[in-house]
Amino acid sequence: MFNNNTVQRFKDIETPFYYYDMDMLRQTLDACRDASAKHNFHVHYAMKANFNSKVIDTIQSYGFGADCVSGNEVKAAVEHGFDKSKVVFAGVGKSDKEINLALDADIFCFNVESIQELEIINELAKAKGKTAEIAIRINPNVDAHTHHYITTGLDENKFGINTWQLHDVVDMLRKCANLQFLGIHFHIGSQITDMEVYRSLCIRINEMQDWFENHGFAIKILNTGGGLGVDYHNPDTNNIPDFESYFQVFKKFLNVKPGQEVHFELGRALVAQSASLISRVLYVKNGQKKNFLILDAGMTELMRPMLYQAYHEIENLSRGGNQESRDKKQEDSAFLSFGEGRGEALKYDVVGPICESTDCFRKDVDLPQSYRGDLIAIRTAGAYGEVMASGYNLRDHVQSVYSE
Ligand code: LLP
Repeated sequence: MFNNNTVQRFKDIETPFYYYDMDMLRQTLDACRDASAKHNFHVHYAMKANFNSKVIDTIQSYGFGADCVSGNEVKAAVEHGFDKSKVVFAGVGKSDKEINLALDADIFCFNVESIQELEIINELAKAKGKTAEIAIRINPNVDAHTHHYITTGLDENKFGINTWQLHDVVDMLRKCANLQFLGIHFHIGSQITDMEVYRSLCIRINEMQDWFENHGFAIKILNTGGGLGVDYHNPDTNNIPDFESYFQVFKKFLNVKPGQEVHFELGRALVAQSASLISRVLYVKNGQKKNFLILDAGMTELMRPMLYQAYHEIENLSRGGNQESRDKKQEDSAFLSFGEGRGEALKYDVVGPICESTDCFRKDVDLPQSYRGDLIAIRTAGAYGEVMASGYNLRDHVQSVYSE
């Protein structure tokens, strides 16, 4: 929810920009830290969700670790002060250069995604006279019940090592003197809201750890990955994910043995609700079949709706929000103090300026009658928003504005 002062402040800022509510970010981090600390669980922030400097500095200050998926993310994590003994490096295609960089940075653990990668990390570590600590990313064939583009833990996905290859994995581990096996890693997908999915994952993890131990490999680390979803439909009333219930599932169903550590890699859940993309209406096109609001932000600034048919709440800040929030505060005339009047509710296709038909944030959005120059907020854009922006059409790089 944006208060009147914030909306007034936006009036003087060139759009589009990401607006970060730092208080919301801290409330979310507090909730996650408190809920995980109860069980002594270790949380690594998945930097890919948002590597905006101010955001990662704030997250780092909470003492979370970092989950990285490129050499540059490893570098950024170290530069931003994440404790290197809490940096993990995942990814199905780590290059030799990236592996060497991570070895030089003495990170905590490589999450290894293929048998060939084990061989290569061993060789590169040997050349440096080092031992690389590794976890095996296992593809558990558990359905995350999320959009198929962000499902990663099924047999047909490219990620991790399939269970039928584990005999070859342990053979390879026995040969690799420069690898230190720490444990097993999983990540089955993103925007998971059904806690049953995590129960199924726990059951698979228990089976897998027994398998390794029966083959003579002690497990120190159980890394369950990330994926906890957020409420894209209710960014004001349900803005902090239910970390308590999430961690409780693992507490209840994971068979944690003495001396083992349980690790998590949360991205979206920590940052999604703390940012909105703020844009202005450039043009209004009233057609016979459709009304279009053409914004100055498009798929180059926020790709998720176009790539995953993702839902984001859309509000006209100059006319009191979306139709629902506007009904609630209809008499807040300060909110409506600029623009060309209140207008009636209409349905709009809210689109961007990019020369692609797919450049549409949402069709048939209920909004108060809208005008050129109105400020539009696209909510819950803190995860996989700014970081997935592109320069397509030679667009300017999207700016960031902070609440403080
Ligand atoms: N760990 C690994 C190995 C991952 O690949 C990911 C995300 C995470 C952790 C963090 O997942 P999270 O907690 O954020 O769900 N661009 C897509 C999401 C892609 C997720 C990629 N991997 C989107 O906008 O929905």
